[in-house]
Amino acid sequence: MDKFIITGGERLNGAVQVDSAKNAYLPILAATILCDDKIVLKKCPDFVDIKNMSLILEKLGLGVAKQENILYIDGSKANKWFIPVELAKELRSSIFALGALLGRFRQARVSYPGGCDIGLRPIDLHLKGLRDLGVKIVESHGYINCDGSNMKGGTVHLDSPSVGATENIMMAGVLARGTTTIINAAKEPEIVDLQNFINAMGGKVSGAGTSVVTVEGVKNLHGCEWTPIPDRIIAGTYLIAGAITGGEIMVEGCIPQHFSSLYNKLQKSGCKIKVFSDKIYLESSGRLKAVSFIETTPYPGFPTDLQAQMLTLQAVSRGSCIVQENLFETRFKFVPELTKMGANIKVNHQTAYVTGVKTLLGAEVYSSDLRGGVALVLAGLCAQGYTTVHNIYHIERGYANIEQVLTKLGAKIKRESE
Ligand code: EPZ
Repeated sequence: MDKFIITGGERLNGAVQVDSAKNAYLPILAATILCDDKIVLKKCPDFVDIKNMSLILEKLGLGVAKQENILYIDGSKANKWFIPVELAKELRSSIFALGALLGRFRQARVSYPGGCDIGLRPIDLHLKGLRDLGVKIVESHGYINCDGSNMKGGTVHLDSPSVGATENIMMAGVLARGTTTIINAAKEPEIVDLQNFINAMGGKVSGAGTSVVTVEGVKNLHGCEWTPIPDRIIAGTYLIAGAITGGEIMVEGCIPQHFSSLYNKLQKSGCKIKVFSDKIYLESSGRLKAVSFIETTPYPGFPTDLQAQMLTLQAVSRGSCIVQENLFETRFKFVPELTKMGANIKVNHQTAYVTGVKTLLGAEVYSSDLRGGVALVLAGLCAQGYTTVHNIYHIERGYANIEQVLTKLGAKIKRESE
């Protein structure tokens, strides 16, 4: 178990390269189960979640080898459709494998992923959608037992635009007889990337990025090479790091239009922003103006995965801000830790009332989830004195070598074991 020790007050300055998106890589890794051929995935980041998903693929019989940042996957020997709890508990996104297992084997047995630190994380929409395709599902003893022998294409109306449910149903439809139509589908860029990856394997998916996705079943797939899209949440996190330290940062190898909802708000706060096709520049000259209202909504709205980082910036901005978290029930668990550092924030259910303070004071703080954890690092970067962030394993699920990246930008941060 490691911790970060941060000495606050350094302005960040320099360029940072963005990794491939965790939330594109994970469903794409699940989709490789559909293919009995060789697949090459490039720019594979060093995230713990990706290591865990690769482990799950190996347990299912796929060959997975990593050389530098390239993943070589061979699905020809995949022969299992059971994901036991000891594997699934490490990774909520193991539920994404359900649709692909059904697509390949017409059966699947996956342990119930359970909730996590940001909310209940139900999977009712996943299961309802698969049942709409004729899958027989029995949930018992914490397992989801699926019989897809009569599975065929169909129409699925999602009650809410769930990212995971959209991806699971897309993957279930790829090799099914007939056409699957998903109505009220999520529109995230990662879903478009999944569509394009499936089509690169010979699938026939269209409409991703809109609220209606169509999957025409095909007989089989072939291998391909793919580089998933850059991580818009990492890009946004480093932009906010530049903003909160009054620094200057160029975030390279990203797709700015994937997080325009963020940089528009940073611009309104007083940051100087220059947008290019594959990079974005930010200059912040000190204490920013608070954004009056931030509400998280499905894409292209303000992303829930940047809420904690943006709320932290508001905690040290001039004025006050109301943050409404609509996606997850307990995504303010990092707030009490910020309060320990002197932040002035009141939380009432899923609304946070933030009054900016001049400066935060370094403290011992404990991360309890991925994005809340990285928000505490951002707080430490701008606080007076030392901040120790404990339980950084949460952060390593979605950020590779963050202390090296920040050190290169001029931050004083070091990793120590507990
Ligand atoms: C994906 O989670 C992302 N994870 C999350 O990123 C992200 O926050 C979320 O989408 C929203 O954008 C991956 O892609 C691996 P949802 P997912 O299904 O698919 C409710 C991060 O930090 N819901 O779109 O689980 C659910 O409770 C992670 O990188 C149901 O009610 O999100 C939530 O309120 C965190 N029933 C809302 O929908 C269901 O069956 C959005 O969930 C499924 C979801």
